[in-house]
Amino acid sequence: MLSSPLAPGADLCPLEPWQAEEFAAYLAAHREHLAPWLPWATTITDAEKARAYLQRYADAQRADTGRFFAIRLDGALVGGTLFRVFDTHSGVCELGVWLSPDAQGRGLVTAAARKMIDWAFGARGMSRVEWRASVDNHRSAAVAERLGMTHEGVLRRSFVVNGVRQDMAVWSLLADEWDGRGGKAA
Ligand SMILES: CC(C)(COP(=O)(O)OP(=O)(O)OC[C@H]1O[C@@H](n2cnc3c(N)ncnc32)[C@H](O)[C@@H]1OP(=O)(O)O)[C@@H](O)C(=O)NCCC(=O)NCCS
Repeated sequence: MLSSPLAPGADLCPLEPWQAEEFAAYLAAHREHLAPWLPWATTITDAEKARAYLQRYADAQRADTGRFFAIRLDGALVGGTLFRVFDTHSGVCELGVWLSPDAQGRGLVTAAARKMIDWAFGARGMSRVEWRASVDNHRSAAVAERLGMTHEGVLRRSFVVNGVRQDMAVWSLLADEWDGRGGKAA
C-alpha cells in the first residue's frame, strides 16, 4: 500500500468510502477553490455522493485501475492525489492532485506526486506518467514543471468543467527519465 510521510506533520494515505463524511465536508469548505478545475468538486454535494465516488475508486483499486489518496497535515484532510488512470496493460497512468488554499505553497503536492511516481515506475513497472491540466491552471503547470515533466502539447477543448470546454495541456514523464530517488534523471 502507498502510504507515507511527506514532510513534518504531513502524510499521504488512502482515502476510503468510510471517510465519505469528512470528504464531503472538505469539499463543501473548499468548493469555490476547487470547482474551476475539478468536475467532481461541483457534483459531490453530500456524504452519499462522496461515498459513491470513493467507492468507485475503491473498486478501481481492487481492479488495479485507479487509486485515491488523502494528504493530511497534523491529521486534518488538506488535499489529495489520485491515479485517475492506471492501465497496467499499456503501462500508462495519469496523476491528479488538489489542495486547500491554506495548504498550498509548502511543496506537499510535489512531494506526494514524487512518491506516487516512484511507486508507479519502481514498484509497478509503469512506463509513462501523465499530467493534464487546463491551460489556465498555472499552479498545476508549475507542479508538472517542478517534477521535470515534458510539456507535450494541448488537447483543445477536450475536458468539460462546469459546462465549459477547457483546452488541456498534457505533460509526461517516462520511466527512463526518472532517477528512482524522487527526481528526474540527470
Ligand atoms: C494545483 C495545486 C495542487 C498546486 O498547489 P501548490 O501548493 O502550488 O503545489 P505544491 O504543494 O507542490 O507546492 C509548491 C509551492 O510550495 C513551495 N514550496 C515550499 N517548500 C517546497 C518544497 N520543499 N518543495 C517544493 N515546493 C516547495 C514552492 O515554491 C511553491 O510555491 P509558489 O507557488 O509560491 O512558488 C493547488 O493549486 C490546487 O489544489 N489547485 C486547485 C485544484 C487544482 O487545480 N488541481 C489540479 C488540477 S490539474
